[in-house]
Amino acid sequence: MNDAQVRELVESKLATIPDFPEPGVVFRDLTPVFADGPAFHALSEALTTPFAGRFDHLAGVEARGFLLAGAASVLCGAGVLPVRKAGKLPRAVLREEYDLEYGSAALEVHEGELAPAARVLIVDDVLATGGTALAAARLIERAGWQVAGISVAIELDALGGRARLDDRYDVRSLLQY
Ligand code: PRP
Ligand code: ADE
Repeated sequence: MNDAQVRELVESKLATIPDFPEPGVVFRDLTPVFADGPAFHALSEALTTPFAGRFDHLAGVEARGFLLAGAASVLCGAGVLPVRKAGKLPRAVLREEYDLEYGSAALEVHEGELAPAARVLIVDDVLATGGTALAAARLIERAGWQVAGISVAIELDALGGRARLDDRYDVRSLLQY
């Protein structure tokens, strides 16, 4: 399946919900894509293909990024670094606070989880303000690893995430709105 076919398949399943989780937000919901075997497979594969040979691990950002990083990991053979919301990881962590389109949060990774200088590709469903991806990238760098890139299914252009990231990172998205 080529990129245009993957885009068409994923877009045909994607749900768009106005005013969720709060008025003014147009929510892009990938759960119907996750529920469709061929669409989920094609999306998971398309997220890592452009970065082939340039990463050793995938970082999956809780929670929706876990699904994509997990599926992509099985397809490409790279392990997953779970980037978790605060308070979930049991050993020593690094922590980054950040703002979202709707609220704020903190992300954590286990210190020493990967080898020094490991190349890590960040995977998530949506790039909106870029706060989540930037926090994940900072964690990876503070831990002594390298950010191989940032790969998302959907980029929300109006929220400016790319502008916060693409001077330093290779940012790729399958669909843009
Ligand atoms: C959503 C989405 C991205 C993030 C993008 O996650 O899955 O991780 O927002 O927004 P940003 O670019 O403005 O940071 P959310 O924090 O809602 O968590 P969830 O996956 O647990 O629903
Ligand atoms: N994460 C941040 N903004 C979002 C949106 N509009 N839809 C889905 N996920 C998001």
